[in-house]
Amino acid sequence: MSILTILEFPDEQLRKKAAPVKNIDDNIKQLIDDMLETMYHAGGIGLAATQVNVHLQILVIDTSEQKNDPLCLLNPEIISKEGAFEYKEGCLSVPEIFEKIIRPSHITVKGLNRHGEAIEIEAIDLLSTCIQHEMDHLRGKLFVDYLSTLKRQRIKTKLEKMHRLEGKE
Ligand code: NI
Repeated sequence: MSILTILEFPDEQLRKKAAPVKNIDDNIKQLIDDMLETMYHAGGIGLAATQVNVHLQILVIDTSEQKNDPLCLLNPEIISKEGAFEYKEGCLSVPEIFEKIIRPSHITVKGLNRHGEAIEIEAIDLLSTCIQHEMDHLRGKLFVDYLSTLKRQRIKTKLEKMHRLEGKE
């Protein structure tokens, strides 16, 4: 397994739309393992393939306290949503920024697991938020897009400065 590089806002690659996975071959399984390792290594609770510059509909999540309950979802689709849940979200692609976002609190999502089997998940609160946040990545959307233009611009400036200091540009 290996740790993958996570793209950071405002990288334009984060705006790409991911294509559905058609065939779960060894490369895809390797990618899923690497994404999980990368997510755990970075201390995150979710990671979308878009964030590691692979534009396929794959996400990994682990919202458990012990970090021992990985969920992998391919080609996810929300089939129902209701309620409202507010959570101070962060993102591995937007480091050190946390902002309150309101999303539906109860969702039902369908997709495939890593074996290509159809699965349906009912998620509430944190897991619901996390799945929606990661699904946004797959369509090129970031949680900062829910904030005001001014706030998003401030975050962009802050991260660009940080990237310059880190020599990432
Ligand atoms: Ni994120």
